[in-house]
Amino acid sequence: MENGHEPADPGGKVAVIGQGYVGLPLAMQAVDAGYEVVGIDLDETRVRCLNSGQSYVDDVSDERLRDALATGRYRASAGYDQAARFEVAVITVPTPLRQLTPDLSFVTAAASELARLMSPGCLVILESTTYPGTTEEIVRPILERGSGLKAGPDFGLGYSPERVDPGNKTWTLPATPKVISGIDGASLAAVHDFYGKLVADVVPVSSPRAAELTKLLENTFRHVNIALVNEFAIFARQISIDPWEVVRAAATKPFGFMAFQPGPGVGGHCLPIDPTYLSWHVRQATGHRFRLVELANDINDQMPAYVVQRIAAGLNRLAKPVQGSRVLLLGLAYKKNSSDTRESPATQVAELLIAMGAVVSAVDSHVDPGYLAGQVRRDRLTPATIGAADAVVLLTDHDDVDYPMVEESASWILDCRNRLRGPVAERLLPGPVRSRETAISVRDSNRPGIGQDQPARPEPGRPRGWRRSPISS
Ligand SMILES: NC(=O)c1ccc[n+]([C@@H]2O[C@H](COP(=O)([O-])OP(=O)(O)OC[C@H]3O[C@@H](n4cnc5c(N)ncnc54)[C@H](O)[C@@H]3O)[C@@H](O)[C@H]2O)c1
Repeated sequence: MENGHEPADPGGKVAVIGQGYVGLPLAMQAVDAGYEVVGIDLDETRVRCLNSGQSYVDDVSDERLRDALATGRYRASAGYDQAARFEVAVITVPTPLRQLTPDLSFVTAAASELARLMSPGCLVILESTTYPGTTEEIVRPILERGSGLKAGPDFGLGYSPERVDPGNKTWTLPATPKVISGIDGASLAAVHDFYGKLVADVVPVSSPRAAELTKLLENTFRHVNIALVNEFAIFARQISIDPWEVVRAAATKPFGFMAFQPGPGVGGHCLPIDPTYLSWHVRQATGHRFRLVELANDINDQMPAYVVQRIAAGLNRLAKPVQGSRVLLLGLAYKKNSSDTRESPATQVAELLIAMGAVVSAVDSHVDPGYLAGQVRRDRLTPATIGAADAVVLLTDHDDVDYPMVEESASWILDCRNRLRGPVAERLLPGPVRSRETAISVRDSNRPGIGQDQPARPEPGRPRGWRRSPISS
C-alpha cells in the first residue's frame, strides 16, 4: 500500500478496546473471521467472566464465547500490554454525557493507552458514538503524540459507527451494513478490508466526520420520531382514539411513513444520549440550538412522569393514595428480552413513586438482582406477589412472563406496552380518558405536583449514560 499500512490478514492481531455490548460481539466476529483477538477491558470482573466463558452480553451466548476461547485466538485482559503488536485496534468504550456535555474521557484514555503500543503500519478505528471531528481532532493528536508516528504516512485511522441492536435476531452485526471511513484513501482501504471480512456489506463515506454524523442522524431520527408518537398518542387518547390502531393503519402506507411505538420513555446507551451529542455539537459549531432535538428530549424525558401520573390516577379511582400503596413494576430493562438497564425509564418511574411514598417492588428475571437494590424490593413472579400489589405496572414486556397469570392475579394493571387485553389492564396510551380522570399531557407534568419531586433531567454531577452495570460494580 502507498503508505505502508497493510490491512491485517486473518491470523493478524486485533485489539478490541472495551468488551461491552458493542465490543464483545465485534471481538467474537473477528475471531470467526480468523483473527487473533485480545479484548481489553478495565473492568476486571468482566475480564474474569469472559475468560471463564461467562458472557454478560445478551447477544453473545456462553457457548459462542467458549467456542472463541477454545480456538485459542481470543482472550480478555484488563492490561493494555496484552494488545502489544496489534495490527488493528478498535475502540468501543462508552461515550456518556456529563451535565449534558459529551464526556470523551473514556475515548481519550483508551487512545492514550493504545498510542504507546502502536507500530508503523497499524490501523486504529474508533467505533464509539460521538460528535463530528472526534476522530481527527481528538483521537488523532493523542495517537500521534503518544506513538511518535504520523497518521496517514505511518498508520491508518478511521471511524465506523456501530449499529448493534441488542436482541435483534435478524439485523445482527454481520448482517447489518456498516458505514466506514478513513482519514485518507489508504486508511479507508484498510478499514474496508478489515470490516469486509466481518460483515456482509460496507458503506464507505468520504470522511470520519461524515461517518460520525451518520450515526448521530440515525439515532436522532429515531428519538424525534418516538417523541412524535409519544406526544401524538397522549393527545389521541385524550380525544378517545386508539393511537396504536392509527399507527398500524398509517403503517400500511408503502412509502413515506415509518411506524414507531409509543411507550414509557426511551432508554439504553443510544437514544437518551446521542441526540444530545448532536445538539451540543451544533451549538458549539454554529451557535444555534437544534430545537427539534431539545423538544424530543423534553417529551421523551417526561414520559416516566406521565406513567406515574397515570398510576396515581388509577389508584385514585380505587380510592387509594399513592403513599403507602404497593406498586409492582414488571420489567426494569429498557427493552424487552434484554438485561440492559442503562437509562431505563423504569429507574425514574421507581424514583418518582418512592418519592411519593409508594412501596415499590419489581420483577425482572433478566436484570441483576442488585439493580435498584435498597430502593426497590425484588420479587419473584408468583400469583401471590402479583395479587399483593395495589398496582402492577407493565414497563417492559419480556417474553418469559406468564401474562395470563398476571392478568388473573392482579387487581389493577397499567400496561405501558399495549400487551394485555383483560378487564383489569388499563393501557398507558389507548382508550378514552375516563370521566373523573384529569386530562393530562406531557407538558402538564411540568406543573407542580406529580413528577416534580425528581428532576426529569439528570442532576448536575450525575453522569448520564454511564451507569455501571451491576456485574461491574
Ligand atoms: N449498546 C448499544 O446498543 C450501542 C449501539 C451503537 C453504538 N453504541 C456506542 O458504542 C460505545 C460503547 O457502548 P457499549 O454499549 O458497548 O458500552 P458498554 O458499557 O456495554 O461497554 C463499554 C466497556 O468499555 C470498558 N471501558 C471503559 N473505559 C475503558 C478503557 N479506557 N479501556 C478499556 N475498556 C474500557 C467498560 O468497562 C465497558 O465494559 C458507546 O459510544 C455507545 O454509544 C452502543
